[in-house]
Amino acid sequence: TSSKILVKGGTVVNADYQQNADVYIEDGIIKLVAPNLKVADDVRIIDAAGKFVMPGGIDPHTHLEMPFMGTESADSFFTGQAAALAGGTTMHIDFALPIDGDLAAGYDIWAKKAKKSCMDYGFHMAVTAWNDKVAKDMEILVKEKGINSFKFFLAYKGYFMVTDGEFLQGLRKCKELGALPLVHAENGDAVAEGQTRIFEQGITGPEGHPLSRPSVLEGEATGRAIKLAHFVNTPLYVVHVMSIDALDEISRARAQGIRVVGEPIASGLALNDSVHWHSDFQAAAKYVMSPPIRPAGHDKALQAALANGVLQLVGTDHCPFTSEQKAAGKHDFRKIPNGLNGIEERMHLVWDLMVNSGKISVKDYVRITSTACAQIYNIYPQKGAVLPGSDADIIILNPNRTTTISAKTHHTTIDTNVYEGWTIKGNIEVTISQGKVVWDNGQLNVEKGAGRYIPMPPFGPLFDGLEKLDAARLRSYNPVDRTIV
Ligand code: URP
Ligand code: ZN
Ligand code: ZN
Ligand code: ZN
Repeated sequence: TSSKILVKGGTVVNADYQQNADVYIEDGIIKLVAPNLKVADDVRIIDAAGKFVMPGGIDPHTHLEMPFMGTESADSFFTGQAAALAGGTTMHIDFALPIDGDLAAGYDIWAKKAKKSCMDYGFHMAVTAWNDKVAKDMEILVKEKGINSFKFFLAYKGYFMVTDGEFLQGLRKCKELGALPLVHAENGDAVAEGQTRIFEQGITGPEGHPLSRPSVLEGEATGRAIKLAHFVNTPLYVVHVMSIDALDEISRARAQGIRVVGEPIASGLALNDSVHWHSDFQAAAKYVMSPPIRPAGHDKALQAALANGVLQLVGTDHCPFTSEQKAAGKHDFRKIPNGLNGIEERMHLVWDLMVNSGKISVKDYVRITSTACAQIYNIYPQKGAVLPGSDADIIILNPNRTTTISAKTHHTTIDTNVYEGWTIKGNIEVTISQGKVVWDNGQLNVEKGAGRYIPMPPFGPLFDGLEKLDAARLRSYNPVDRTIV
């Protein structure tokens, strides 16, 4: 492949500006963005007339080859990223886990797993206990290893869950280090109680999963986490926002000027909980994740909140398991590995749900799939923009081409797809990663080991990047539109 590319005649879209222009790429970097560029003969020209040229997607939330619930998520760093590139995502931030409570050891393991990467990536680190070694490791990870975010679980009692006391210590440490605390917000004690109660009532199938952990428990934990972060005076990022209950807490806090970032995920925007009721175990079990897919109405409210800026960016929580793995919970929903696919589908789903439906502009699409993530994690404008000097991670979307999602044709390794049969107008025909064409009209051309670790620097004492982002969004703040269509 040529290292010099001209993307010609498309509509170049950034989060704040769009223009008809050519994009000239050399050695993995965008060199020029301007109309009618003249280039030498050795430059590969890609015709983008009638198409949108946008920054590659950044998925802020994935779990590749993650040990979880007695098994391991089915996509490796290589297969998961290949799927991502086929779907227009050119960077992701994966959740590294401590090994036996050891964060530094966890980082080393994740760094090793990621050596097979074919696209750029970064890491969050989970904090699942509190002691001096954890605090010291957090400092090392921020100062030396390029990690600027830590996830705290208020659920998964007996595994990852931290107490409020531990969470508070972690929040203070994040503030001291200029790192962003992330929270999985469900009340873990109440979830455990709900699971036992539902199971003992004889509801053992996948439908027991959403029944056992309703949205009120997500709302409670979201509100609690926001208040504790406010008490410490540090920003907070809520991962996988799935419900109106959580949305209400975020919306109220943001209206008061409290710095909270809310991340809905593709499945929460696209699906509703009717999928859990099915006589065939596998047909329902593939949707089991936590927090669960909510009843109809929550999906539309999340879309509306994303459109009006109360929620700022979209992830996937990509954590795929095969039917064989899901079968571990055949007779007990509590043992179904939690997680579903999305890394390959997110860009197309968001286009369909948000742009085709007229809810947002193409610029907003760029913001919520790419730019906001780069800004929040402090890697903008290296990522998240089609600008001179930025990494050449670019997608070309044809708004008139229609495709259908299926496990028969997807690139993730699992045998099912939670979006099976979805037909979507608007297709990402070309993905350019680090200045190389890796996805070209159905042809995937990826290279194991080509992916680079992107270190994410800590924030200044005022969390300046986040502060600016919030200020800009809050200017256009509107109350959540609850329209249920
Ligand atoms: O069900 C899920 N979400 N699995 C991945 C782990 C997590 O909580 O994000
Ligand atoms: Zn989580
Ligand atoms: Zn069916
Ligand atoms: Zn997750």
